Amino acid sequence: MAAVRVHSSIQSSLCILSHPLYSTSRHLKTRLHFPRPLFSSPSFSSGRALFYSCRADNFKGSEREVSDSFVLTTPLYYVNAPPHMGSAYTTIAADAIARFQRLSGKKVIFITGTDEHGEKIATAAAACGSSPSEHCDVISQAYKTLWQDLDIAYDKFIRTTNPKHEAIVKEFYSRVLANGDIYRADYEGLYCINCEEYKDEKELLENNCCPMHLKPCVLRKEDNYFFALSKYQKLLEETLTQNPDFVQPSFRLNEVQSWIKSGLRDFSISRASVDWGIPVPNDNKQTIYVWFDALLGYISALSEDNEQPNLQSAVSSGWPASLHLIGKDILRFHAVYWPAMLLSAGLSLPKMVFGHGFLTKDGMKMGKSLGNTLEPNDLVQRFGSDAVRYFFLREVEFGNDGDYSEDRFINIVNAHLANTIGNLLNRTLGLLKKNCQSTLAVDSTLAAEGNAFKDTVDKLVEKAKFQYENLSLSSACEAVLEIGNAGNLYIDERAPWSLFKQGGAASEAAAKDLVIILEAMRIIAIALSPVTPRLSLRIYEQLGYTKEQFNATTWSETEWGGLKSGQVMAQPKPVFARIEIEAEGGDGGEAAKKVVKKKEKIPHTQGVAQA
Ligand code: MSP
Repeated sequence: MAAVRVHSSIQSSLCILSHPLYSTSRHLKTRLHFPRPLFSSPSFSSGRALFYSCRADNFKGSEREVSDSFVLTTPLYYVNAPPHMGSAYTTIAADAIARFQRLSGKKVIFITGTDEHGEKIATAAAACGSSPSEHCDVISQAYKTLWQDLDIAYDKFIRTTNPKHEAIVKEFYSRVLANGDIYRADYEGLYCINCEEYKDEKELLENNCCPMHLKPCVLRKEDNYFFALSKYQKLLEETLTQNPDFVQPSFRLNEVQSWIKSGLRDFSISRASVDWGIPVPNDNKQTIYVWFDALLGYISALSEDNEQPNLQSAVSSGWPASLHLIGKDILRFHAVYWPAMLLSAGLSLPKMVFGHGFLTKDGMKMGKSLGNTLEPNDLVQRFGSDAVRYFFLREVEFGNDGDYSEDRFINIVNAHLANTIGNLLNRTLGLLKKNCQSTLAVDSTLAAEGNAFKDTVDKLVEKAKFQYENLSLSSACEAVLEIGNAGNLYIDERAPWSLFKQGGAASEAAAKDLVIILEAMRIIAIALSPVTPRLSLRIYEQLGYTKEQFNATTWSETEWGGLKSGQVMAQPKPVFARIEIEAEGGDGGEAAKKVVKKKEKIPHTQGVAQA
C-alpha cells in the first residue's frame, strides 16, 4: 500500500508536520506537499465525550464496556462475484462463535455484509452489462441467500451502498481530517485491482504480478488524499506491546509487529479515477478509497435503521467490537490501518482481530480472482448445511490453511455425524423403545451416581467450552465428539441388550445405562449446536423436547442431570443419514464414483437459524 513515488513540491504544510510524533518521521518530511486549504478544522474537543484520546490505552475504556455483550464481525465481502466456499468459511466460523456466545448468555451482535464500492465492482458490473447498483443488489442478495441456506443467524447485514453507511463514512472522514491526518499529494505506484491496493515493487512477482492474484499490477498516477498512517507508528507499536492478544492467532502478531517496525507509510484514501464510491467530503471529484469506506461498515452496521445516522449513536450501540474475524490476507488492513484510523478519529479499538488461514485447492488460495473456487450452494444442496459447517470447522484448525477433498469430506461427516453421534442415538432409542416403552426409568443424575462415564463427560464439556472461548473451533468439535466416542465405548462394554435379556437387577442396570447415554446425547446436542444447529435440534426432538425448548437452551444446561425419570422419547428416527458413494458402473475408478442422495431424507427443520 505504500507509495512507490510521491512527487514533492516545496510547499510543505499542514498541521501533521507540526505534530510531535512527526518530528521523528523523516520519511514524511521528504515526501509531502500540496497545500489545499480546503480543510476546515472543527474543534475536535466538542463532540468528544463519547470518544477516546489517541493513547495506547484505547483498549481499556470503551464507549460501551458492557461485559455481557459480544459484538463480532465477518469481513464485508466484495460483490464482484457470487460467494464461494472461501468467503463462506469465515461466516460459518463467525456464526458458530456467535451461537456459542449466545448460549453462554452474551448479548450478541453478529455483523456481516457486503463491500460494494470501487473499481473492481464497477468493472465486474460492466462485464455483466449491469449498472453497478443493479449488480450489487444481485450479488448482495446471493450472499444473503447463501447465509440463509447455511443457517447463518446474523444480526446485522450492512451494505456499503446503504445511505446510513455513507453518512457515517463521511462523518468519520471529516473527523480524521479535523484531526489533521488527511492531506493531498501526487501519487504514483503499482496498483492491484483485485486487492484494491497499491503494492511495493519488492513484494511483486515477475512482470509486476500480484503474488495473491497472479495478475500484473498496473501503473497508476493520481492526485489523491492521503491518510497519515506514519504518524501512528509509535502508538501502534506501544498498543501491540501492551495488548499482545489484539492479534490472533498469536503467531500472526510477529508479522504485524514487523510490518509496523519496518516503517509505516501513509496511504492514499481517495481515488480520482473511480466514480463508483462515496464522494470525498468537499471534493466530489474524488471518491473515498474502498478500504477507508468498507472498514466503517463495522460501525455503521450498528446504527439503528429508524434513527438519523451518525457516528456517535452508532458507536454507542455497540462499539468497540469484541472480535473481527478475517482471513490472513486482510490482516494488515485490520491490524494496522484500521486501528490507526480509529485512533485518529478518537474511537476505541476493537478487542481482537483474528486472522484465519485459507481454504486451498491444490495448494493455491481458493478465490474468485483465480477462479478455483468450490461452490458452497452445491455442497449445501448435496450434503446439507450441518455437514458443510461441521466439516470445515472440524477439519481446518482455525487459524491455519486447509485443503478440501471430497473423499475426506464424506469420510469425516459419515464417521462423526452419522456414526459416532447418529448411530449411537438411534440404537439407544431403539433399545429404549423395545425394553422401556421409550420412557426413562430414572433421573439421569441418579442413573450416573458413582459412574466414571459422567466425570468423563463433565471434563469433555469443560474442554469444549474452553476451546470455543479460545476460538479453537476444531478442538471444540473434537471434545464434543469424544463424548460420542466415550458413549459408544460405554454402550459396547455394558452391552445393555444382553443385560435386558437377563432381567431383574441386570435389566434395571441396562435401563440406567440407556438413560446415561441419552443424557450424554442431550449434552452433545447443546455443545455441538453452535456448529450443527439443525442436527442438534433433531437430537433434542428425539429426546422428547420441543423446538421451543431447544431454542431456549443455554450452555449451563450442558451440566449433567437434564433428563428426568418418566420423560418419553420420540420414535427413533435417524438424525443424520450417511452420504453414500455408488460406483457409476465402468471401471469403478475414482472418476466413476458418484455421490448419491442420502439413504434417508432428513427433513430440513425450519427456524433453526433463529435459534
Ligand atoms: N471486501 C474486503 C473486506 C473488507 S472488510 C471491511 C475483502 N473481501 S473478499 O470478498 O475479497 O474477502 C473476504 C474474506 O474472505 C477475507 O477474509 C478473505 O480472507 C476470505 N477468503 C477469501 N478466499 C478465501 C479462501 N480461499 N479461504 C479462506 N478465506 C478466504 O477482502
